[in-house]
Amino acid sequence: MTVWSERFAGEADRLLRHHGDSFPFDRALLAEEIRASIAHARALARDGVIPPKDGDRLCRGLRAMEKDRAAGRLSLDGDHEDVHSFVETDLARRIGPVAGKLHAGRSRNDQVATIYRLWLRDRVDGDLDAIDRLLGALLDHAEAHPRTVLPAYTHLQRAQPVLLAHHLLAHAEALLRDRARFTEARVRIDVLPLGSGAGTGAGFPLDRTAVARELGFAAVSRNSLDAVSDRDFLLDYLSAATLLSVHLSRIAEEIVLWTTPEFGFARLDDRASTGSSIMPQKRNPDGAELVRGRTGRLVGHLVAVLTTLKGLPLSYNKDLQEGGPAILDAAGTIRGSLGLLTLSVSSLEFLPDRMAAALEGGFAEATEAADFLVRRGVPFREAHGAAARLVREAERRGLNRLADLPDAVLPAVHAAFDSSLRASLAPEAAVRARDLAGGTAPRRVAAELRRLRRALAARRP
Ligand code: ARG
Repeated sequence: MTVWSERFAGEADRLLRHHGDSFPFDRALLAEEIRASIAHARALARDGVIPPKDGDRLCRGLRAMEKDRAAGRLSLDGDHEDVHSFVETDLARRIGPVAGKLHAGRSRNDQVATIYRLWLRDRVDGDLDAIDRLLGALLDHAEAHPRTVLPAYTHLQRAQPVLLAHHLLAHAEALLRDRARFTEARVRIDVLPLGSGAGTGAGFPLDRTAVARELGFAAVSRNSLDAVSDRDFLLDYLSAATLLSVHLSRIAEEIVLWTTPEFGFARLDDRASTGSSIMPQKRNPDGAELVRGRTGRLVGHLVAVLTTLKGLPLSYNKDLQEGGPAILDAAGTIRGSLGLLTLSVSSLEFLPDRMAAALEGGFAEATEAADFLVRRGVPFREAHGAAARLVREAERRGLNRLADLPDAVLPAVHAAFDSSLRASLAPEAAVRARDLAGGTAPRRVAAELRRLRRALAARRP
């Protein structure tokens, strides 16, 4: 049985029902459907569409349903087309034919848009909390390592010394922007479609602002056709979540890289490692790899929903239902990835000695030699050439550090070099020299860390 079966002499083919029914996935939004139904029942009674006592009976039945749902007492078996018809059917079982009064002035088209918005709004709030937990884990490490220096990389080649804290806060900056994107998505999600009916507006003068207030929506939709066909609120979420996932995958990749014996900059503790069935020595960073791999799912869902909306005529089309499984999986995936990555990050132990060792042999201090000359009035291009000659000279002599070159070599390479160069070549001196906004000097990084802590504490209302 469907809510529309009286229209037909025969039944829809099982294949069509199998593919067309959304109950297998949209029953995840049962709480939202009940909540929106209560708000609608109250509006019908308040605005004189049904007698107040019928409104009360509808609300009592729906509240009892919600109680059973919350207690896990609701049987979800049975042949239901979608979560909307499930609620109608279950309500009729509870309160009899008066349940049939609930659907006046609404359509599954405005209901479905309403409940996904309700659901997604709550998801965003939980996602923001999960982002904050990951940010907290990054900031904790940054705080614990105010002076640890490692090479910064470009082209994955050792480039210049940088503070570990600065590197960690680079990821925090990206996450902070992600947090802002989720907050912005939430603003556009937070609009009530209910009252739009099948697409032209309900046939009764319902006070939609009151319904919005009851459901905690900040605004009501301004065009009924748009309200039932718009799924860009899904795309606001999917694009924010996909970009977040891309950022997570970059952190994950560095965990994979840094925990290799080749880098050895960090170690994952046991709760974030897995072993091998054959190779007894293995400590595999599965959590980070899953986060990296699942980014593909997010990208896939984003592209799938974009493609589904492309070229759709107004207003509701069944195609829109395809947004459901996409958003449900995307939201579950991003939350899982945030948790997995927070686990991996918080279980990292950094190995400063290995980082210090990596600062030797790659000549990450070469820029310091050039800057030394600039401070003595030498044009940078000339200074760059002189520092490059120092590197070649050190390589030729099989030395690991420019500081190991004998005193006599320095003025021979450039007249403005002398033994005072050595002090500037130290990794600590290199980071201290970058004392400007956005630079890696310890006092700058400490200030940014304080700012990020404040940003994290200033939670959204
Ligand atoms: N299950 C549908 C969806 O998720 C609900 C709206 C159905 N409306 C309709 N006229 N068939 O999109």
